Amino acid sequence: MNKVLVTGGAGYIGSHTVVALIESGYAPVILDDLSNSRIEVMNGIEKITGKRPEFHKINLTDRTAVDVFFNTHHDFDGIIHFAAFKAVGESVEQPLKYYSNNLGSLLNILENMEIHRIKNLVFSSSCTVYGEPDQLPVTEKSPIKKAESPYGNTKIISEQIIEDQTTIKKINAISLRYFNPIGAHTSALIGELPLGPPNNLIPVVTQTAIGKREKVVVFGDDYPTPDGSCIRDYIHVTDLATAHVIALERMLNHKQISNFESFNIGTGTGYSVLEVLNTFEKISGVKLNYEIGKRRPGDVIQIFADTSYANNVLGWKAKENLETMIRSAWAWEQNIPKLFKE
Ligand code: WQD
Repeated sequence: MNKVLVTGGAGYIGSHTVVALIESGYAPVILDDLSNSRIEVMNGIEKITGKRPEFHKINLTDRTAVDVFFNTHHDFDGIIHFAAFKAVGESVEQPLKYYSNNLGSLLNILENMEIHRIKNLVFSSSCTVYGEPDQLPVTEKSPIKKAESPYGNTKIISEQIIEDQTTIKKINAISLRYFNPIGAHTSALIGELPLGPPNNLIPVVTQTAIGKREKVVVFGDDYPTPDGSCIRDYIHVTDLATAHVIALERMLNHKQISNFESFNIGTGTGYSVLEVLNTFEKISGVKLNYEIGKRRPGDVIQIFADTSYANNVLGWKAKENLETMIRSAWAWEQNIPKLFKE
């Protein structure tokens, strides 16, 4: 059975990828420190797949703990590395927390890959590496620009570290540059589970709709876009999970064009914040309480992907549309109280 190590596998995208891996016949092993996820996520994975993956609670910045783990567990066909802090705003307030965590954990993984000759790495990157693009849609050749936040900078630096390591140590790596992951598994048994107040738009919307929050504040409607609000390329988390399995198999089947490849994982379509809110109201039948507020520092005006490279070379294409994404996010929000003792 192909064993795959999934760091951050109890998290939002990680848990959906673990489900996709199991359904594709892999045996994922999860490393997670549960700093931004809950162990009950394992129940959801088990209910969906009938299998409960091996789980180890480890902080990846603890070098000794990571070394001890790899000394007894290293027969992996590949590693999918999600574990990182990802709140843009928090990274601006606490840059060193982000650099030490996101880069420290990556280095511990890469050094153990070298020691134990683990060959393949899928890295969780982000469209944030493109900053405010000069041209849209962005391709993988679009310039990597100065990050708008330390969070984004850790993704840029991580890609550079990985690329250097692939050149020297002959490991294979694929960096997946996510656009905006939203939605939840169709079972509504796993989904986005922010511990504490959410930063991202969709959990803010669904928590407002269900009454956990008083309102949605739209961070600015005076941008140079058709309705004045920012535009993003939202992608269903299950489409994103599938991309990770396809990327892993690309390396296992020796299909790579070079040892380091990066792919834009988006839909190619951009939607504004106000369009998202209107779509939510249409789908849920819930009138959202929202107001227009000030712009949020660090926000780019608009970004969406040119997905032709991922479609034609990686062989992956998003299937879900905005309505199914939002419908699944709303079903998940409504199911949370049944799954977790609030
Ligand atoms: C989307 C839009 C906000 C909240 C970041 C990272 C990216 C990825 C996803 C991790 C923006 C607006 C939001 C709110 C709002 N990170 N908004 N009111 O900032 O595009 O991307 O998260 O996976 O790498 O950069 O996502 O969901 O925070 O914001 O108006 O209460 O919604 O201004 O235009 P973002 P987001």
